[in-house]
Amino acid sequence: MRKTSYINGLDEILCGGFVDNSTILISGKAGSGKTNICLQSLFEAAKNGETCAYVSMLSESKEKILNTLSNFDFFDQSILDSGKMSIQSVDSDIICKGDFSIFEYINENILTLNPDRVVIDPITVFEEIDSTFEERQFRGCELRTFARNLFSEFEERNIMLIITAEASENPINTCKWSYMVDTILTLENVINGNKMHRYLELIKARRSDYIPGKHAYSMTRNGVRVISQY
Ligand SMILES: Nc1ncnc2c1ncn2[C@@H]1O[C@H](COP(=O)(O)OP(=O)(O)OP(=O)(O)O)[C@@H](O)[C@H]1O
Ligand SMILES: [Mg+2]
Repeated sequence: MRKTSYINGLDEILCGGFVDNSTILISGKAGSGKTNICLQSLFEAAKNGETCAYVSMLSESKEKILNTLSNFDFFDQSILDSGKMSIQSVDSDIICKGDFSIFEYINENILTLNPDRVVIDPITVFEEIDSTFEERQFRGCELRTFARNLFSEFEERNIMLIITAEASENPINTCKWSYMVDTILTLENVINGNKMHRYLELIKARRSDYIPGKHAYSMTRNGVRVISQY
């Protein structure tokens, strides 16, 4: 079974959409469009009857998120009012309190909504967890177990989970998340003179074929549109 991405042109590259019940990583440098692509997917899915939640890990104010969103045609206040789409900003205190506190937040505020599609943006904030429930140091190697347990909560409930990660100059850092997900989509900006070219590439898609290579995409008021290269 497949679920549409609701991003123009992306389903063709995914050979029919995201595989049901999968975890998807969207990675790219700052400003490459990770947040916009996620929000477009959620808003369009909510308009089509799915229950969706966007979880910002950056402790940004909801007003700021809404202010950016209102620049796009996919934004629809009535969908937020209806509760089909919710926007949440996780307080930095919750991250500071450690792994248990994050689990508790997600259980109480996200999973209780019975969502179909959830975005955690960016997941890399979890790399900052430094204490556990027992108030001892959170070891680097525990991050994998934490993420595995968290992703399982979504898988067991058949929720599509999309996470984002800022691509670092050091590719070793992004690997942390790469092997834990089913699908990886990378976004890239290339500046040529005074023109910006945007490219999207699928790096892996478990349980699915996909069209390899760099596919140009545009980002305008109308949202993201992928121009397949095949
Ligand atoms: N109305 C618009 N039309 C066209 N492009 C826009 C519009 N609004 C924002 N953008 C583009 O979106 C980019 C920001 O996208 P987005 O916030 O999704 O990036 P990001 O990858 O999430 O970045 P970060 O890593 O900083 O969170 C801006 O650099 C700008 O080029
Ligand atoms: Mg972003």
